[in-house]
Amino acid sequence: MTKLQKLLSVAELDQSMVNALLDTAEGFYKIANEPSTKLSTLKGKTLVNLFYESSTRTRTSFELAGKRLSADVVNITPSGSSVSKGESLADTAMTIDAMNADVLVVRHGSSGAAEYIQKQVRARVINAGDGLHEHPTQALLDAFTIRKQKKTLTGLTITICGDILHSRVARSNIMLHNMLGNRVRIVGPKTLLPSEAPYDVETYFDLKTAVKDADVVMALRIQSERMGTGNLASLREYSKTYGINESVLAWAKPDVILMHPGPMNRGVEVSSSIADGPQSHVLNQVSAGVAVRMAVLHHLFS
Ligand code: NCD
Repeated sequence: MTKLQKLLSVAELDQSMVNALLDTAEGFYKIANEPSTKLSTLKGKTLVNLFYESSTRTRTSFELAGKRLSADVVNITPSGSSVSKGESLADTAMTIDAMNADVLVVRHGSSGAAEYIQKQVRARVINAGDGLHEHPTQALLDAFTIRKQKKTLTGLTITICGDILHSRVARSNIMLHNMLGNRVRIVGPKTLLPSEAPYDVETYFDLKTAVKDADVVMALRIQSERMGTGNLASLREYSKTYGINESVLAWAKPDVILMHPGPMNRGVEVSSSIADGPQSHVLNQVSAGVAVRMAVLHHLFS
C-alpha cells in the first residue's frame, strides 16, 4: 500500500488505501462524535484551513478532526486576511508555510488550486474542493456512509442526480466508484451533464429510469454560482423534472439510501419530506465527515 503524502485527487488512492482509510475512520467514529476523547496523533502539529469559498460542513469537520487528533487548528478566510488586500494565492500559501503549518486544507473556486498550492509549500495539502474539479474527502465520507448501510462497497448501483457538470463532488464520487467496481449512473438536464463523460458512467435524462433498482441515490446542489446563463431554464421546471421525492424513490430498491453532500435546496433537489425521511442519510454523511477526515489526517502523519 502506498503511503498518503497529500490528498488532492481520488486518483492518488487505490482500493486498498480506500479500505484502509475507511477502516481507520470506522475505528475513529465513536471518538469523532464524542468530544471528551482525544487522540494524540497530531500533537505539536498545525492544521490550517484555508477556505476561499463558503463552507459549513467541510471546514467545521476538518477543524473538529484536527482538534480530536490534538492538532493546533487555524482558520483563514479571505475577508479577514491579506487576501482581501490583493495577496496572491501563492504568497498566501508561502506565508502560511513559513509559519510551519504541517497540513493545509484548501478550498478554492479555481480547478487545480490545491495542486498549485502543493507545489509552493512544504506542508501537506488536502483538497477540500477546487472549482469544478475534485473534493476527495467528500467522496470518501460518502463511501463510508454507503459501506455502513450496505455492508459492501462493490457491485452497487449508484445514481447521481442533477448538476453533474459543475460538481466536484460528482467527479470525485464517479472516480471512486469506478475504482471500487460500482455501477454509476448520472442523470440530469442535458445542459447540466458533461458533453463527454470522461469516466465509466451510464447517462440518463429520465429520472425514474435512472433511479430504477438503484442502491444509492445521490442528489447534488444546483451550483448557481458556477453557472453561465442558459444552463438552467428555471428552478421550478428543474424540480418538477429532476427533484427527488417519494414517487421517484419508489423506483429504486426498497432499501435505497438517499444522500446529498449539502447544502440542500429543499423543494429543488429533494423534497423536504424525503430529506427528513427514513431513507435519508444526509446527516449521517455529516457525522461521517469528522471520522473520515480524522482518518485522512492520521494516514498523512502516521
Ligand atoms: C459541496 C462542495 O462544496 O463542493 N459541499 C460540501 O462540501 N459538503 C457541495 C456543494 O456546495 O454543493
